[in-house]
Amino acid sequence: MREKINAMIEKATELIQNAAELGSINELKVQYLGKSGEVTSLLKGMKDVPNEQKPEIGKEVNKARDIITNLIEEKIKDLQKKALDAKMMKEQIDVTYDEVDANRGSLHPCTLVIDEVLDIFTGMGFTVANGPEIELDKFNFQLLNIPKDHPSRDMQDTFYAGEDILLRTQTSAVQARTMINTQPPIKLVCPGKVYRPDYDATHSPMFQQIEGLVVDKHVTLCDLKGLLELFAQKLFDENTKVRFRPSYFPFTEPSVEVDVTCSVCHGKGCRICKGTGWIEILGAGVVNPKVLDSCGIDSTKYSGLAFGLGVERIAMIKYGIPDIRILFENDSRFLKSFK
Ligand code: DAH
Repeated sequence: MREKINAMIEKATELIQNAAELGSINELKVQYLGKSGEVTSLLKGMKDVPNEQKPEIGKEVNKARDIITNLIEEKIKDLQKKALDAKMMKEQIDVTYDEVDANRGSLHPCTLVIDEVLDIFTGMGFTVANGPEIELDKFNFQLLNIPKDHPSRDMQDTFYAGEDILLRTQTSAVQARTMINTQPPIKLVCPGKVYRPDYDATHSPMFQQIEGLVVDKHVTLCDLKGLLELFAQKLFDENTKVRFRPSYFPFTEPSVEVDVTCSVCHGKGCRICKGTGWIEILGAGVVNPKVLDSCGIDSTKYSGLAFGLGVERIAMIKYGIPDIRILFENDSRFLKSFK
């Protein structure tokens, strides 16, 4: 009997050690410890053992059962650990993996300019406003001191969609929309698409502008200069200087054209600034009191400053793009250079 027990232990040990999967170890568990398993039948067979041998043989059988149970449990733990390790290896992320040919996009240069300009002005306490691209003549022109048949309409050729409906030619329309609904203080910037029937290397029938408006007590031309100087220094570099040239817009009085020192040659004169050292970046002025009054803001109490810049123009200056049409071709080789 003892030999039989020892042979069983030996055989079981070998089988358990060689088991490579949880499935086969479970089968061995049934084979030895199950209801009709080998160990169980030995225990059952104890009744046939002569009485005087029972204590000793009983001990041996129990020992065999403990040995086999332990071996099986250890093997199960071992196989479970191995399975987990294998799973972890398979799911490991290689952070050093270099993605070779991922065709990821990049932001369009105009979007980069809009984001940057809005960031600068919101950092100075401006809110961002929006208005419709299909606009009423009233907001695009009349409330901005451009009545029908006024000669200054020639400054901005217009796509009309009806007697009084048009594609807005300027984001200045949002000034009028805001002022008829809001009392000062007003401090806003408004980005958006505008439309004019023009098409050449520096003009596109659709382009984008960013309008700025400040209305409050005691707002002056000096505030406009300080504001735009700070803006230009943040947009280009901290040594940028700003100069005002007299100009004309019906909605501002006085009106100015604003130049900055060329960020490429720093004023020495180069291809970008056409040798002058200066680049025109926007139009601006002190809001014409007539505009304040027609929008329901008391011009004896309040004054304002306004400016409008062309997004494509700024992108062309900032990134040295020679022809506005490149911005609309969406050639992926060009766009990728802005990653
Ligand atoms: N709306 C003008 C344009 O499209 C630009 C502009 C000039 C806007 C002066 C202003 C301003 O607010 O004060 O040409």
